[in-house]
Amino acid sequence: MKRILTSVLFSGVVTAACFGQDNSGSQRLENFSSFFTGEKKWLVLPVKNGAPKKNLELWVNGELTRWFDMEVADEKPDWFAYLDISDWKGQKMELRVDALSTASQAFTTIRQSDVDTNAAPLYKEKLRGQFHFSPKRGWTNDPNGMVYYNGEYHLFFQHNPYGRGWGNMHWGHAVSTDLLHWKEVGEALYPDKLGPMFSGSAVVDEKNTSGLGESGKPAMVMFFTGAKAWAQGLAWSNDGRTFHKLDRAVVTRINKDNRDPKVIWHEPSKKWVMVVWVERDHGQNSMQILTSPNLKDWTEASVVYGGKGDDRYLFECPEFFELPVDGNPAEKKWVLTAANSQYAIGTFDGTKFTPEVERLNGQLGRDFYASQTFNNEPKGRRIEIGWWRTHTDKDDMTFNQSQSIPMELKLERKAEGLRLTRTPVKELESLRVKTYPFSKQKLKEGGANPLSKIDIELAEIRVEFEPGTAKEVKFDVRGVPVVYNVSKQELTIDGVTSPAPLQNGKQRITIYADRTGLEVFASDGILFMPINKNIPAENRSLSLTASGGAANVSKLDVYELKSIWD
Ligand code: FRU
Repeated sequence: MKRILTSVLFSGVVTAACFGQDNSGSQRLENFSSFFTGEKKWLVLPVKNGAPKKNLELWVNGELTRWFDMEVADEKPDWFAYLDISDWKGQKMELRVDALSTASQAFTTIRQSDVDTNAAPLYKEKLRGQFHFSPKRGWTNDPNGMVYYNGEYHLFFQHNPYGRGWGNMHWGHAVSTDLLHWKEVGEALYPDKLGPMFSGSAVVDEKNTSGLGESGKPAMVMFFTGAKAWAQGLAWSNDGRTFHKLDRAVVTRINKDNRDPKVIWHEPSKKWVMVVWVERDHGQNSMQILTSPNLKDWTEASVVYGGKGDDRYLFECPEFFELPVDGNPAEKKWVLTAANSQYAIGTFDGTKFTPEVERLNGQLGRDFYASQTFNNEPKGRRIEIGWWRTHTDKDDMTFNQSQSIPMELKLERKAEGLRLTRTPVKELESLRVKTYPFSKQKLKEGGANPLSKIDIELAEIRVEFEPGTAKEVKFDVRGVPVVYNVSKQELTIDGVTSPAPLQNGKQRITIYADRTGLEVFASDGILFMPINKNIPAENRSLSLTASGGAANVSKLDVYELKSIWD
C-alpha cells in the first residue's frame, strides 16, 4: 500500500501527519507534500552538508513558483536555508519534496519565521573572510550586475541559497555605500522558464531608452543568461530592491553555449553595446558584439575570436570598457577581457573592436575568476571585483566562496608597454585601525626581523625597496612565504611563481592578508597575485628578511585592519 505523508504549517509550527500504513517496517523513499498558508517572511529549510540532494518545489495558488535542489537534513541540520515567501501572505502554498525517507524528520524542522536565527554567529565564523564579501549562506561564484544606482553600489552574485556547492543559480544581492561594508538584501533573480540565472551585468538607463523608468527616475536594467534557453534575458528595478522581468529573452541562442552578457552605453554612437561569450564550432571561443537603441532590441554587429578548446583566452564572462592612458582623457583605449583576466587593448568604433595587443595577463595568482567592473561608478573610476575561490566548505560553515577586494583599474605606459594595472581602492584605508610605521633601513642577510613585534590577524603591508646585493627579499605573512627572487624578478607565493619586473630599479609590494588568503600587488600594479589559502587565526606573526646580500628598504608600513562585518 502506498504511504502518503503530509503535514501542515500553521503559525510557524509544523504538524506532520501521516496517512496510510507502512507494513514493511523498513525505511522507503516517498514524495512528501505539505500544505500551508503564508504567514511569515521566510520558509526555513533544514540543510545537511553532503546529504543526498532532493528536489523541492514550492507551489503558490496552484502554480509552480520556486524549484531547487537541496541537501535535505533528515535528522539534525547543519544550518537552515531561508526562502522568502513574504509576497504570498495569506495565500495557499504547497511544498513538495521528492524521494524523502519515510523516517525523515525534515518536515518537523521546516517552519515559517520572521526572524533569521541561524545558530552560528553570522560573519564571525572561523573561515569567514573578514574584509571580503561572502554570502550569509550558500554558495557564490561570479559577481554579477555590478552597478552604482540610487546612491548605492549594487553587487549581485551567482548564488545557491540552499547549499554550499554550485547549483540552483540565483542572483543574490548586496548593497554598499563604500564598496566595503555589504548588506545582503535577499535574492534579486530566481530561476524561471529561461532556466537558472547565470551571470550578467546591469546598467542605469539614464535616458529611459527602454521606457522602463518610472516617474522620471531611471531604471536599473539587468541582463542575465537563462541557462536552459541559453538566451539573454532582461530584468529591471525602479527602486534597487524589487525586480521585474521581461517575459521574453532579448537575445536568443546564437550558437552552442552563449552566456554572460556585459552591457555598456557607448556615447559616441548613442547606443547600448552588449558583449556576450559565444562558443563557435570546434570549441572556438568568441565574443559576440551586439548593439541596441533601447536595451530590448539587439542587432548582431561583429565578433572577436579568442582561444580554442583549453585555450581560455576570451572564454566566459566578458568585460569591455574604455580607459584613459595615464589618466589623459585625450588618449583613450578599449580593454576587452574575460573570465581568466587575459585581455586585449584596442580601439572600438561602436560596432567593431580592433585589438592592438592581445593576450596580456591580467592576474597571475590562484583561483581568481570572472571579475566584473561597476557601471556608472560615481567618481568615474573603473572598479573591479572578482570571484575569489576560497576553501570555505569545511566544518559546519553555512557559506562557501567569496569575492575579492575591490580594485581600481588603470591603463598605464610601462617599460613593458601599455598595461592594465590594479590598485586596491582608496576606501580600504578606512579599515586601518592601527599603523606600524618603519623608518628606512637596510635589510641584511641574517639581520633582525623589523616586524617581530607585530601580532595581528588582518593585515595590510606596504613595502618599497631596491634589491641592492640581496638575492631574495622575503616576507613571511602569518605562515605564508612571499618571496621576491631578485635575479629572476619573480614573486613566489605558496608554490605559485609570477613575473614581477622592477619598476625603475624599485619593487613596491602591497599585501592584504585575510583568513582566506593573500592578495598581493607588485610592480606598481602590473602584477596582481591573489593566493587563496586558509590561514589559521592564531598565526599572527610577520617577518621581512633578505638573503644573499643587503636590500635597501625605502618605505615600510604595516596596518592592522578591522573586519567589515563589525
Ligand atoms: C563562470 C560561469 C559563467 C556562468 C556562471 C554560472 O564562472 O561559468 O560562465 O554564467 O559561472 O554560475
